Amino acid sequence: MILVVGCNGMLGRDLMTLLGEKARGVDLGEIDITDLESTERTLTALHPSVVINCAAYTDVDGCETNAETAMQVNGEGVGYLAMATRAIGAKLVQVSTDYVFDGGKGTPYQEDDLPRPLNVYGESKLAGEMNAAFNPDHLIVRTQWLYGLHGKNFVEIMLKLAGEKDQLAVVDDQVGSPTWTVDLARAIVALVDNGCQGIYHAANEGFCSWNEFARAIFEEAGLTVTVNGMTTEQLNRPARRPLYSTLDCSKLRQDTGIALRPWREALRSYMASRTNKH
Ligand SMILES: NC(=O)c1ccc[n+]([C@@H]2O[C@H](COP(=O)([O-])OP(=O)(O)OC[C@H]3O[C@@H](n4cnc5c(N)ncnc54)[C@H](OP(=O)(O)O)[C@@H]3O)[C@@H](O)[C@H]2O)c1
Repeated sequence: MILVVGCNGMLGRDLMTLLGEKARGVDLGEIDITDLESTERTLTALHPSVVINCAAYTDVDGCETNAETAMQVNGEGVGYLAMATRAIGAKLVQVSTDYVFDGGKGTPYQEDDLPRPLNVYGESKLAGEMNAAFNPDHLIVRTQWLYGLHGKNFVEIMLKLAGEKDQLAVVDDQVGSPTWTVDLARAIVALVDNGCQGIYHAANEGFCSWNEFARAIFEEAGLTVTVNGMTTEQLNRPARRPLYSTLDCSKLRQDTGIALRPWREALRSYMASRTNKH
C-alpha cells in the first residue's frame, strides 16, 4: 500500500485520485509529521511499502516570518518520516522544489547542481532533502510552479482577479515551468514504479515568466484582461525568489520514459477539467 502524507493538499489529492485503491491518505488530524511519536505510530500501524510525502508548509512568504515552523515541517518532519519509513522497510518519496536553487545558473538546473536557497522556504526544503537521506531508500522529486484543482494557486488567483479588475500588473522577470499537479502525480508514480532512488526533476516542459503565464491563462479562459509588466523588485515580497529556476527533466525521461507535456497543453487540459468541475 502507498501512503500519501498530506493527502488533503493540492498535490496530495491528485495523487490519491490517480492511485485509487492502491493508496491510503493521511493529513493533519491523523498524523503530524513534526511529532516523531505521531509519525512512528501512524506508519507502524498502517505499514505501507511506500510513503509519498506531500505535507509541507508551502506559504513561501509566511516562512520568512515563521522560520521555526518552516524548519519543523519542511525539514525535521521529513527526517522523522525518513526514520519511521526506514524502521518499517518502506521507501520515502519526498517532494521538493526549485527554490533550493538561487536562479543564477542561466540554464535549466540538473539534479546534481549545487543548491543555494535564497529564502527560508528553500532552506527548509533543502534541509528536508538532506533529512530524507536518513532512509537509504529515498526518492526526492523537485518540481515547481504547481497548480491544481484542489488548492490555492496562481491560475485561480489570476482568474479571481480577472473578475475584479480589467488591468493587472504581473512580474515579468521570473522564469519557470508552470506544472499541473495531475501531470506531476503521474511522474511520481512512474518513478516509484521504476524503483528510482535519489533526486529527480519533474515539471511540465518549456518555460515562461509569470506575466506570460497570466496572459496564457486569460487566453485559455477567453477573458480580456490587460496584463502589464512589473519587476520582482517592484513587487517587493518578503521572500527573495530565484529569477531563472527551470528544471532539466532529462533524467526523469531517461529512467522512466516519461516526459511531462508542454506547460501550455497542460494548462489547456486543466482549464477543461476546471470547467467540468464548476
Ligand atoms: N505549490 C507549489 O507551487 C510547489 C512548488 C514546488 C514544490 N512544492 C512542493 O510540493 C508539495 C505539495 O505542495 P502543495 O502545494 O500540494 O501543498 P499544500 O496544498 O499546501 O498541502 C500540504 C498539506 O500538508 C498538510 N500539512 C501541513 N503541515 C503538516 C504536518 N505537520 N503534518 C501533516 N500534514 C501537514 C497541510 O494541511 P493544512 O492545509 O491543514 O496546513 C496540507 O493538507 C510540497 O512538498 C511543496 O513544498 C510545491
